[in-house]
Amino acid sequence: MMPAASDPGPPSTTPAVDVLVIGGGVIGLVTAWRAAQRGLRVTVVDPSPGGGAAQVAAGMLAAVTELHYGEEALLELNLASARAYPEFAAELAEVSGQDIGYRACGTLAVALDADDRAQLRELHALQQRCGLEAQWLSGRECRRLEPMLAPGVRGGLRVDGDHQADPRLLTAALVTACRRTGVEFRRTRAGKLLCSAAGGRATGVELADGGRLGAGRVVLAGGSRSGMLAGLPEELRPAVRPVKGQVVRVRMPQSRPPFLSRTVRAVVRGSSVYLVPRRSGELVIGATSEEQGWDTTVTAGGVYQLLRDAHELVPGLTELPLAETRAGLRPGTPDNAPLLGPSGLDGLLLATGHYRNGILLAPVTGEILAEVLTEGELPGRWQAFSPMRFAGVPA
Ligand code: GLY
Repeated sequence: MMPAASDPGPPSTTPAVDVLVIGGGVIGLVTAWRAAQRGLRVTVVDPSPGGGAAQVAAGMLAAVTELHYGEEALLELNLASARAYPEFAAELAEVSGQDIGYRACGTLAVALDADDRAQLRELHALQQRCGLEAQWLSGRECRRLEPMLAPGVRGGLRVDGDHQADPRLLTAALVTACRRTGVEFRRTRAGKLLCSAAGGRATGVELADGGRLGAGRVVLAGGSRSGMLAGLPEELRPAVRPVKGQVVRVRMPQSRPPFLSRTVRAVVRGSSVYLVPRRSGELVIGATSEEQGWDTTVTAGGVYQLLRDAHELVPGLTELPLAETRAGLRPGTPDNAPLLGPSGLDGLLLATGHYRNGILLAPVTGEILAEVLTEGELPGRWQAFSPMRFAGVPA
């Protein structure tokens, strides 16, 4: 007999898998795919696989132009992933039959006034100290590369190694690649981490639909929500917080020469703005950076700021048709770097906290997590990203 609607009956227990991934965003998907390729039985738990921050992200692979003081360890990880991208994109296209919009287009970071130029000169000096390729250009040289730039551009940095991928195509291809590699999906939320009776080991999750899934290892890849999972020991709760980013999408004309041929970015009155032109004609204008908790409202002020700053860079863009406005949540961490590998609780691994670099870091994250899952340890080279560096830091 069917149980009454108010009586869900005893929770079902699904047979154990090797790896259970909580979160089907770009990081959860790439982890699942790489683990399945290594012969592990993998299930991803997510109500909407392929959703999340990647649906909003512009997809800049900006290891060099987004370099910041004090982030040299992160730079090494970013560069390793940027180098892996061409092969990663080709392999993913072969397995999934889907293109991910990887474009080796390069980036131009420009200055609009003397303050911006001084800031860009500082960035250039830091890039040079780190041995990175970046070339200083005059305003005229910038406009020769990108004729739609404002006449007032005072100079810029040409970075031919910072490219782009299309995050929406990337996640769609990863979902297909996961399916073709035998990954199972449970389209529900993970409600609670399950641990052994003595609490010394993660053993699976209780699902929001009442079921339970047992697993040899659990990978928490929940993006900005990673710290919210019930059942996590308090001292191991990942120090991840949501950092809101609003993004505007417009459509470029299919012209020759193209409206913009590479990513163009600037810091305008202290806020960063970037324009990422896709082959499809989409132009992504991003992004605000707001500490607003879980709010994902698209605000008039956020859109105004982006369009005002983008218009200063490329005045002609206000003629373009508006396609979309959207806000997403970056998973920020105290040092802006991700949390990768063993968590401090046996059986629980983290793959979260990728903050501004989730799309860029997909290839290297997949490799690192697959290695941790098969070898049991975080490779020595990447110890700086161990989640244990924040043990006890409140989420
Ligand atoms: N990496 C671009 C952003 O987070 O807005």
